[in-house]
Amino acid sequence: MIEAGEMIKTALFDDSLTVDTKSERKDLVTNVDKMVQTYFAQKILTFDPKAKILGEENGQDHLNKWNGRVFVIDPIDGTMNFVLERENFCIMLAVYEEGQGILGFIYDVIKGQLLWGGRDIGVFLNEERVPQPANVSLKDGLLGMNAAMYARNSHNAQIMGDRAMGVRMSGCAGLELMGMVLGRRVGYVSNLAPWDYAAGGVLIEALGMKMSHITGRKLKLDGRERFLAGTPSAYEEMLTLSQQNDD
Ligand code: IPD
Ligand code: CA
Ligand code: CA
Repeated sequence: MIEAGEMIKTALFDDSLTVDTKSERKDLVTNVDKMVQTYFAQKILTFDPKAKILGEENGQDHLNKWNGRVFVIDPIDGTMNFVLERENFCIMLAVYEEGQGILGFIYDVIKGQLLWGGRDIGVFLNEERVPQPANVSLKDGLLGMNAAMYARNSHNAQIMGDRAMGVRMSGCAGLELMGMVLGRRVGYVSNLAPWDYAAGGVLIEALGMKMSHITGRKLKLDGRERFLAGTPSAYEEMLTLSQQNDD
């Protein structure tokens, strides 16, 4: 993680960044996204040749089976921020065994903050153990939100936002989930692919918070899904609100 972060910082400051689009104008990928994913994939397969890789880039974005050990990689989460803000992005890595999330890592490269852990070992920010966040209700906290879902009031997203103390749209799923772990967010509503929530999902669940598809069903870990996460109290309230109106 730290080595990959150094590669990213070097590329940011030595002017070697090249930016391309994928599905549309706002769907960006850089040479650094691809390089970091290749770096992780090579390290993982050297250490564990039987491991499977699911990652956003390099054509590794689909898995037929989740048996065995799976490493889920988002080499840069928040690529738009990376390109236009040069901050507010992170590296994410999750380890799954037989379909269960075991370990999650979210590295805020610019702040030098590595959030890591899992259900069996607890959660740490760099070397310090993170305590279980309080079960804050929706009305008492800040809600992370996907801008398009908020604008369209998808699944009553605007009503959820009104109930909260305020809405925040960072453009980086990993940092929103890190915010939940650190007690800065009461929840997060978005439209995410597996690599956007795998690492953060392990970490929030390790601390007793909840996540699912916005309808309450289990996430499929395949393709984009409407995503809901929160403290137990905020999650239940948002789930009820989401079911009052579907888009
Ligand atoms: C994106 C960010 C963003 C979320 C998008 C993701 P990327 O990831 O996490 O916050 O709203 O859905 O695709 O493409 O920058 O890795
Ligand atoms: Ca992402
Ligand atoms: Ca990415």
